[in-house]
Amino acid sequence: MYFGLKQSKFANMESQREHQNKQVAIWLMIGVGMLIVQILIGGVTRLTGSGLSITEWKPILGLIPPLNEQQWGQAFQMYQEKTGQFKYLNNDFTLSQFKFIYFWEWFHRAWARFIGIVFLIPFFYFIYKKAFNKDIIIKLFALFLLGVGQGLIGWIMVKSGLNDDNLYVSHIRLAVHFISALILVAFTFWFALTLMIPQKQILSNPKMKNWLIFILLF
Ligand code: HEM
Repeated sequence: MYFGLKQSKFANMESQREHQNKQVAIWLMIGVGMLIVQILIGGVTRLTGSGLSITEWKPILGLIPPLNEQQWGQAFQMYQEKTGQFKYLNNDFTLSQFKFIYFWEWFHRAWARFIGIVFLIPFFYFIYKKAFNKDIIIKLFALFLLGVGQGLIGWIMVKSGLNDDNLYVSHIRLAVHFISALILVAFTFWFALTLMIPQKQILSNPKMKNWLIFILLF
């Protein structure tokens, strides 16, 4: 009788753990979706030549765009003064053309902040619900560092274009920003799969693994 009770208590804990893991996995998958959207917005930001339109980085207050003509004038003036891009490429820009490029860079950063919020709020909720074991906490910490790093790389990349010499951001820093974005989305997806797919259902196929390594190196 005692062992029966103990077994059902254990089974309860197991199914509760599985349920919590599923919830965490869904949260991470939402993150994967948002990161894919962010990569697309980043591509549009690049293709519209919008990357240098915001010449300062205010992680929190930067969410508020210029709200009146005077503030727009200031933002446009900073773009004119701080970028070779304006001097040599866009010196015929009107305020409305500037507002167009400003929107894409602002939207890209705003979406990054939104990803941060969608990460932090459930993160504290799951902490409160004790949904994380040690393994999950380590992976979440790595995810947090990758996310913060992605934003930092973004700003370091923008800074590479805030001078008289460069018309665009450095292509090396851009490549780092792009590849780190792919690592971030791949890690988040893998993390979610480790929580969604029970261990016993994971197939290991050495041949396929060799192929994967070859493709990655290639
Ligand atoms: C989750 C966070 C972020 C992700 C996943 C992300 C991803 C990307 C990607 C994939 C691109 C396109 C790269 C290419 O065309 O090769 C891009 C462009 C860009 N990102 Fe981000 N980004 C993030 C956050 C940020 C932040 C916080 C900043 C600035 C502080 C930033 C600044 C930029 C700029 C300026 C461009 C356009 C580069 C250009 O002018 O060509 N990004 N981003």
